[in-house]
Amino acid sequence: MSDTAKLIYDGNEYPLNVITGTEGERAIDIRTLRADTGLVTLDSGYANTGAAESSITFLNGEQGVLRYRGYPIDQLAECSTFVETSYLLIFGKLPNHSELEEFRQMLTYHSMIHEGMRHFFEGFPATGHPMSILSSMVCSLSAYYPDCLDPDAGNLKHIARVLSKVRTIAAFAYKHSIGQPVIYPRNDLDYCGNFLRMMYAVPAEPYEPDPEMVKALNMLLILHGDHEQNCSTSTVRLVGSSNANLYAAISAGILALWGPLHGGANQAVIEMLEGIRDSGGDYKGFMQGVKDKRERLMGFGHRVYKNYDPRAKLLQGMADRLLAHLGLHDPLLDIAKHLEQIALADDYFIERRLYPNVDFYSGIVYRALGIPTNMFTVMFALGRMPGWIAQWREMHLDPGRRIGRPRQIYVGETEREYVPIDKR
Ligand code: ACO
Repeated sequence: MSDTAKLIYDGNEYPLNVITGTEGERAIDIRTLRADTGLVTLDSGYANTGAAESSITFLNGEQGVLRYRGYPIDQLAECSTFVETSYLLIFGKLPNHSELEEFRQMLTYHSMIHEGMRHFFEGFPATGHPMSILSSMVCSLSAYYPDCLDPDAGNLKHIARVLSKVRTIAAFAYKHSIGQPVIYPRNDLDYCGNFLRMMYAVPAEPYEPDPEMVKALNMLLILHGDHEQNCSTSTVRLVGSSNANLYAAISAGILALWGPLHGGANQAVIEMLEGIRDSGGDYKGFMQGVKDKRERLMGFGHRVYKNYDPRAKLLQGMADRLLAHLGLHDPLLDIAKHLEQIALADDYFIERRLYPNVDFYSGIVYRALGIPTNMFTVMFALGRMPGWIAQWREMHLDPGRRIGRPRQIYVGETEREYVPIDKR
């Protein structure tokens, strides 16, 4: 295949390099396009724009493939832990024993938040959405670590801090919302066990995390670990490209994730399933509404996956296993399976290549873990944290990095005279 493309414009020919990635993806390099031709490109939603050369995550949406640093997602979900996968995403290799131990120790010893920050929670209304609290608190961390204002991708303390403290913040926000005292982290517990304890323990009784719940949480977080240049990750890179600090960039990513077309879809899925249940379980009528464009089937469809999202498959299996272990039956899982069955056999969805995405079944698992619906997107953010950090770090280590600054095609008024207010 040719390694140049040709642009013919205004009687001139411009050769453009074609770059090939390690998995054979090809891109036209337009980095000198405007300087050479005066042209820019227009690509709303960035559906055809490669914003980075990255070696973190590979996904092939046509074939339903997802790999972190070359390792298939199903192998990591089955065999790894969230901490190990975080190391892999951030540093590019699976850690050996001592590397993993050192990383674990860093996360363990950075799990507390400044006592001053604990009082911030009291200022938020108990009904405040936990995503707004999470984002504010993560950004506030930068006030406590002033050396972060000079971003340094080699300063691992900030990386460990944000990755570790975010789970403490999430659990404290939950405790505040239900009026219970916060539970401090315990250094003898692992990352996920500690989170479950901070969420569910009360000072009046002992609490030991259920190993099956710990396993399920590890898998959930691994499945959310990274997903290349999506909306929130691009936000982290864009904010970080101005040399804003890591906490600020991650805080912005959390806010981008919040929207229902992105990470907020997991909450929207459960609300949709509850709506169907509460109106008598008429899922066929609901699906007709989706096809008539009166409704949207939340948790379905993806900008990149045009085949089954491999994460959704793993989550469906996990939902079944976890519910069986806990002796629970969730009617929402039945409704979800009915909707999926209809969709996979219906021309509307087949023609548009709409399949369940990661959010379709994750909410069922969160419910089984006892996570309240408005915290689902917080859970997504916890899982996505190593991916955001890895992408921020990769960007900062790239010697060719430039501030992110897209162009536009202006379609507004051309120059006109100012009109005094009494003449308008
Ligand atoms: N339900 C019904 N129809 C859908 C859905 C859906 N969930 N998703 C796409 N379509 C239809 C669109 O109406 C459109 O139909 P048309 O050709 O008749 O106009 C066609 O499929 C193409 O859809 P687009 O909206 O152009 O696809 P796009 O790539 O822009 O959007 C998105 C992707 C936002 C994920 C979309 O599929 C969606 O809204 N899904 C529901 C929300 C959701 O689950 N988001 C989570 C995504 S995963 C994540 O971010 C973690």
